[in-house]
Amino acid sequence: MFKRVLGTKDILPQEIVEWQKIEQLSRDTFKAYNYQEVRTPIIEDASLFNRSLGSSAEIVQRQMFLLKRERDLYALRPEGTAAIVRAYIENNLDKTSGMAKLYYIGPMFRAERPQKGRLRQFHHIGCEAIGSVNSDIDSEVISLANRLMQVFSVTDYHIKINSLGCQKDKEDFVDFLQRSLKSKVNKLCEECRVRLKHNPLRILDCKDDNCREIVKQLEIGDSCQCQECKEHFSKVKNNLDTLDVSYEVSPTLVRGLDYYTRTVFEITHKDLGSQDALGAGGRYDNLVKELGGPDMGAAGFAFGVERILLVQSQKPEVKSQELVYVIPLGEEARKNSLRLLNDLRQENIPSDTDYECKSLKGAMRKANDLGAKHVLIIGDDELGKGVVTLKDMVSGEQKEVSQEDIIKEIKC
Ligand code: HAM
Repeated sequence: MFKRVLGTKDILPQEIVEWQKIEQLSRDTFKAYNYQEVRTPIIEDASLFNRSLGSSAEIVQRQMFLLKRERDLYALRPEGTAAIVRAYIENNLDKTSGMAKLYYIGPMFRAERPQKGRLRQFHHIGCEAIGSVNSDIDSEVISLANRLMQVFSVTDYHIKINSLGCQKDKEDFVDFLQRSLKSKVNKLCEECRVRLKHNPLRILDCKDDNCREIVKQLEIGDSCQCQECKEHFSKVKNNLDTLDVSYEVSPTLVRGLDYYTRTVFEITHKDLGSQDALGAGGRYDNLVKELGGPDMGAAGFAFGVERILLVQSQKPEVKSQELVYVIPLGEEARKNSLRLLNDLRQENIPSDTDYECKSLKGAMRKANDLGAKHVLIIGDDELGKGVVTLKDMVSGEQKEVSQEDIIKEIKC
């Protein structure tokens, strides 16, 4: 028997209601902030991600699903930002719409070790606002993420923010870390020893106890940041205060992807355990240019849908089925029921029939199992009189209704 691939999930009909609800709430919320949907391919050139996320990023080093075809190397997209920026540049969106505010919903792929809240195929709901370096965009994006938490009925989440500064500030910060940690290299975990050379920022969010202690002793502040970046971050914080968004400034929040500059943020939830990030994002002012586009500032975020579903404090109400179940008794009635079903469906009334109808009792049981609201019975008797027997499955009431009036009767 075939099994689904490790780290993937089947979303079955009984679960799909909550997925559809999350998607609908997202669409409505993005619309309120004037974001438009974009759908990009699931496969991209692998080099797009190497270039954007950075060759030392964990995703690029270890987690990409790669597909080789002749001379080309593709990747199943591990995230959306790089692909959206690629689409923005390739389709000249800077020329057609100036500021592009885009959102996306779809699967992402990372070859991670699966565990609770960590899959190899998971789903992002995210957005990217491309075309401005204004700090109002940073705060809009963070407050939009905060709004989504509210509309998804997620409570007890925590927003952490930080500023990495511009590219030059980041380089100075990397330099500071390398200098400060040089004498402590032997106390760092094996992975951080490698990081110290290639990706020292990631040492700041290492989970190893020793590394955390060493990081704690470093005096991390904004001393490596230029005046402009400090002011930018101040404005972001002021805006968030104005918008009543609660947050904590976390100087060790660095994010694992190379493209971030200035504001970064993460939304965590304690019930998620070790994989506690519900969503994350930030500003990436150099990526559009880096990928061959104009010099445009941008910011965005993405939530992991599977993780949101794990922590929702309230699940959407599942409406009882409005299904109409047609039970034909006999060959003649079956022909008649074909027409009736067709008429119901043309009116968009969800309806079905018992294809294997062997007895009225069995068919009624099936109608009950399906949660049908109405049952329509057509037998020889009903055919003779030109009526249908209509049974209300909630009240148990039963009556004969003429064939012409049946749709009107069900609709009211
Ligand atoms: P990220 O932090 O890599 O950011 O992913 C965003 C969210 O996706 C995470 O916070 C988590 O909820 C979810 N996630 C990540 N990996 C997995 C996994 N293996 N299984 C389940 N859920 C997962 C980004 O991808 C950036 N592109 C976000 C962004 C958009 N930054 C700017 N714009």
